[in-house]
Amino acid sequence: MFIEKGPYLQKPAKNSMIIRWVTDVESTSEVRVYEGYHAQVPASKFPAYEEALVFSGEPGLLHSVEVSGLKTFQEYYYEVISEADGDSVISDKALFKTAPDEETAFSFVLTAENGGICNPSNPYVGSIVELIRRERPDFIQSVGDIVSNGMNAPDWDIYFFGPFRGLLRNTPFYPCVGNHEAADTAVPDCEMEKHYHNYENYFAVPRNYSYDYGCAHFVVLDCPSMFEAVNTSDSDNYITVLKPDFENSEAYRFLVSDLEASNAKWKFVVFHYPPYTSSIFDVPQLQVLAPIFEKYGVDVVFNSHAIVYDRSHPVKGGKVAKDGVRYILVGGYGDLDDWFREKQNGLSAKICARPNYVHVAITPWRFELQAFDYEGKLFDTLTLEK
Ligand SMILES: [Fe+2]
Repeated sequence: MFIEKGPYLQKPAKNSMIIRWVTDVESTSEVRVYEGYHAQVPASKFPAYEEALVFSGEPGLLHSVEVSGLKTFQEYYYEVISEADGDSVISDKALFKTAPDEETAFSFVLTAENGGICNPSNPYVGSIVELIRRERPDFIQSVGDIVSNGMNAPDWDIYFFGPFRGLLRNTPFYPCVGNHEAADTAVPDCEMEKHYHNYENYFAVPRNYSYDYGCAHFVVLDCPSMFEAVNTSDSDNYITVLKPDFENSEAYRFLVSDLEASNAKWKFVVFHYPPYTSSIFDVPQLQVLAPIFEKYGVDVVFNSHAIVYDRSHPVKGGKVAKDGVRYILVGGYGDLDDWFREKQNGLSAKICARPNYVHVAITPWRFELQAFDYEGKLFDTLTLEK
């Protein structure tokens, strides 16, 4: 037997972590956790002098074990073990780190569209994943399109679990629903609701969710669910429009109630379609959400979908304003200059059509963003202070 996917880390908290993996046959689920991290110690000596904390979960193909009772912002190393019919498999040891308290600095990386470019041998994926690994971020937040076609089971290995394997074993990954997580292009968006089964299977968070990490609050939305496809003629032509009752959608209601309840120092909202961008793939219908971000003091909205980089000036009421919200379109593993309009939209502060990822370092009083291309060249920065 062998481990098909993972192990990978979900829902990092101050005192717990969820560890998942997938085996080729139904088997037991056990995680051994060792306190302390001894990077310089030869592998043969790793756990010999320490007693493991042992956690177990339900048997199956997909294994999900919550390890709890841990110390805050503490490094641990772990291994996963599965057994079936006298056979067994054990993973290499890897490290994880629990989440910090509100006073502690941390960093995260934003990435998106590793699947959206729909090229299984896209060379930018390998180079960007390696650059992210070298950053040692505390976690990764995706902004969607993790796979090319979320309904297609092999896609999850081709675009995600394969190329991200070395990162996922020691870096928690927060997903986000894009248009590729559900359907292929043959299925109208209105049918997408039925096709999230792989996404919902692999990730320990729902499609709309939020979390606190240190002094920051993140709200992650399933924005495609706010749209529907309308047949414009008797042919198969569909246009995608905001649902007339979008204010009753789970995503919208969750956004409002969640932001209302948060007193975090920094507030970020993450969803796939970009309301403001100089790209031709903007989704201006989602500007209806802007008054909510403005009302509840959201610092930055992170979007994707257009496979370029685009950082706006602060925007309020559709115009640049000192106390506005910044919209940053991140990620994208493609070099797509023609996905920008010929001229910028008057809101963009920096655009770049190169494969990229974004690193953010946070303290309670400072936000430092750096955007890098696929060769590790820094091409944009943003610093905010409170
Ligand atoms: Fe997309």
